[in-house]
Amino acid sequence: MPEIASRNHTLAIENVVKQALDEANCTKDDIDAVAVTYGAGLLGALLVGVNYAKALAYTWGKPLYAISHVRGHIAANYIDSDLEPPYVCLLASGGHTALLLVEDYTSAKLLGQSRDDAAGEAFDKVARVLGLPYPGGPEIQKLAAEGKPVYKMPVPSFKSDDALYFSYSGLKTFVINLVHNLEQKGEAVPKADVACSFQHYAVEQLFSTTEHAVERTGVKRVAVAGGVSANALLRARFDAARVEKGWEVHYPPLKYCTDNAAMIGAEAYFAIVSGQKPADFTLDAKATVRL
Ligand code: KG4
Ligand code: ZN
Repeated sequence: MPEIASRNHTLAIENVVKQALDEANCTKDDIDAVAVTYGAGLLGALLVGVNYAKALAYTWGKPLYAISHVRGHIAANYIDSDLEPPYVCLLASGGHTALLLVEDYTSAKLLGQSRDDAAGEAFDKVARVLGLPYPGGPEIQKLAAEGKPVYKMPVPSFKSDDALYFSYSGLKTFVINLVHNLEQKGEAVPKADVACSFQHYAVEQLFSTTEHAVERTGVKRVAVAGGVSANALLRARFDAARVEKGWEVHYPPLKYCTDNAAMIGAEAYFAIVSGQKPADFTLDAKATVRL
């Protein structure tokens, strides 16, 4: 079975590579290098990609570059955009929620991160408790549009001299308990209102923590990255800060917000230009990488 699964993955990737070359109207001779994300993420998926990329680089005779998935999300902001460092980056995906001061194309300082769940993970878990499919973010967004933010939900209490951090487990647990309590009492769960309230507090936390980061660094150029940057309420909240606070705000185009290969290519470009050495064929997948 594992052999069949691996053969099917290889065939699927082969088709994607062929399609990508066709759509870009080029052949392997036009390609300078093969870039692959080696982490962070689910080991099984990463292993499939890393092994395929090694074989491709070897057979094509091209250098192989190991690229961080997280840095790829940040680099998605450079595609079709005039963004230049320095800027404050809010990274919000299914695996990470963090604020970084991106000093140049290849270095960033971590300003703060989640103490527990990632924002996207909270969207996914709340969606599950509301009976919505995975990934939960787009589903919550859709359902929230039919509801009102009537529930008061917990937010981390943040003092101005605290280190920057996010926390999503309290909000997630609040929603899970709210839904279970209503179900136990035999009452209908007002799912759209729950989704709308949750989305409001989830976005508010992302925005207000970024606001602290902007105040502390004095850097008013802000980019949002990761799957949650596709969220319409979040975009509206940050858009408003352009006018209200004079921020310069960037997000990737919607198709580059969630995991995609273009962002890995974009990060590889900057890594190669800045002198990153190619990986060798001992490259291995890693579930976690340093932010
Ligand atoms: O960056 P990504 O594709 O994968 C990881 O690196 O984790 O992010 C996926 C996450 C999922 O948790 C998904 O629910 C969330 O991004 N997401 C959204 C939206 N679209 C995707 N969250 C909120 N609103 C959305 N529209
Ligand atoms: Zn991702």
